[in-house]
Amino acid sequence: MNLFTAAIVSLIRGQLAGLASPPEIPEGLVERPPDAAMGDYAFPCFVLAKALRKAPPAIAQQLAAALAAEVAAHPLLRSVEAAGPYLNFRVDPAEMARRTLPAILDGSYFRRNAEAPREPPREKVMVEYSQPNTHKAFHVGHMRNVALGDALVRIFRYNGIEAIAVNYIGDVGTHIARCLWYIRHRAGEPPTETQARGEWLGEQYTAATALLENAPEAGRAAYDREISAVLQQLEAREGEAAELWQETRQWSLDTFEEIYGWLDAHFDHVFYESEMDRPGKEIVAEGLERGVFVRSAGAVGIDLEPEQLGFLLVLKGDGTTLYATKDLALARIKFERFGIGRSIYVVGAEQTLHFKQVFKTLERLGFPQAERSVHLPYGLVMLPEGKMSSRAGNVILFSRLRREMRAYLLTHYLEAHRGDWTDEEIEETARRIAVAAIRYGMAKQDPAKSIVFNLEDWLQTEGDTGTYLCYTYTRICGVQRHVTEPPRPGADFSLLGQPTEQALIRELHDFNRTVARAEANLRPNMVAGALFQICKEFSRTYETSPVKQAPTPELRDARLALFAATGQLLKEGLALLGITPPERM
Ligand code: ARG
Repeated sequence: MNLFTAAIVSLIRGQLAGLASPPEIPEGLVERPPDAAMGDYAFPCFVLAKALRKAPPAIAQQLAAALAAEVAAHPLLRSVEAAGPYLNFRVDPAEMARRTLPAILDGSYFRRNAEAPREPPREKVMVEYSQPNTHKAFHVGHMRNVALGDALVRIFRYNGIEAIAVNYIGDVGTHIARCLWYIRHRAGEPPTETQARGEWLGEQYTAATALLENAPEAGRAAYDREISAVLQQLEAREGEAAELWQETRQWSLDTFEEIYGWLDAHFDHVFYESEMDRPGKEIVAEGLERGVFVRSAGAVGIDLEPEQLGFLLVLKGDGTTLYATKDLALARIKFERFGIGRSIYVVGAEQTLHFKQVFKTLERLGFPQAERSVHLPYGLVMLPEGKMSSRAGNVILFSRLRREMRAYLLTHYLEAHRGDWTDEEIEETARRIAVAAIRYGMAKQDPAKSIVFNLEDWLQTEGDTGTYLCYTYTRICGVQRHVTEPPRPGADFSLLGQPTEQALIRELHDFNRTVARAEANLRPNMVAGALFQICKEFSRTYETSPVKQAPTPELRDARLALFAATGQLLKEGLALLGITPPERM
């Protein structure tokens, strides 16, 4: 909770107390004026128009006059002013600093959201993200999902919500049968290095597809028979193809492990598509018995036409399940086995219809948690030259991404420290910055919009990049190394009179509010935006407010505390996006 916005809301509520049925004034209504020169917080009077039967600007005038004395005497606030339909408030900056900086320095600030009382009470949430398919290569596009899902988990936890991070790996399906078929009949030797081997599997799948597409009709029919034999062995989990599946599946899982390790992404549980076959069939049997599913030309499905969602197939003529069937089983298992109250699926926007169908089918099956299941869709990752496609051969695979980012970072920033720093520190710094650049670049965009990935742009220390945020953090660490003494939480913050300093304090103070909003809206990009803003305000303060050369020791202490708190908040804030900044770069 934000003390200052809470104070504003309580003053306004006080003014309405005389009304027969006063309107609700949630704290979230308080906004920030577009320009800090107008005030620190703004209250929109539109929401009172109905209850007070007046135009919003007239309400603003009336309330400004009515509240003036109370605000002036308030320990946290300074002034109130009407500006069109808004009431603009100014806070006491020294009070804001006193209520914020020591709490950041002692860490209690970062527990405030989790400790705040909440109505309705918090319940356990599951976040499913990443969900790569085995036998296919992991590329830069897959990073967006990880950045988004992992950040959501961390944001939930920061707000005191127990979040279970899960993965759902696609380890069955025709794409795998094709890949294995190709390996058995035509491929050469696989490489031994983890990433190379995983990517090699992806290449075999692509080669298989090309071979099938270009085959003459008769040849194609023969191939299809062979593939279908492979698929049967896979479904039955026996025979040579099943053994090859076990072995190659593990190769892919090893590549994913390494990627998650590099990224610092963690899962509490991993589901596999291959586990959902049997429970999926059980759901089909149950739905048939209860008349929710119907037989149609040897197959089984559900008519979702009344909801304009088409006809959803849940069992094929040959008795095998589909992607959707497995999702019906998975959705149930999540709630039943993990006792969660909400289930979030971070999956690309192209699967929106699929999830509507799945959730609607669950509802028809009488599964009450269907409405507690949420698809969080996100847009594409593009390249400056357009869409990525394995056909066009312009997909940036993980191994290349990692290699090229490292090379760039070494050449442009880190090679200069060779000899001075250990090789381990150079490597670890390069990894942290690369991860910051990728994660921040992916997380800062609104999920609904597409992203253009540009490796060099994302590695610049200026502009809205993860690299810039890391750089800002290292500048703060640099100041602290220079000053040597620790920051004093008891410094005299009333000395921080520069507008730059006060703007920075306000951003720090508001950060928790932003994290709460990011959670309510499932939008990690709001956290990214707040961190960027903090870095910009810090960069301005860095110019106006030297620490070591401060005119008095008291002012130096106050500034040092402000800088140290900014560094601490950046560190904790970046951690919400899965980023660990280096101490120097
Ligand atoms: N592996 C799937 C794919 O690559 C995504 C799985 C999404 N999650 C789910 N529960 N269906 O398309």
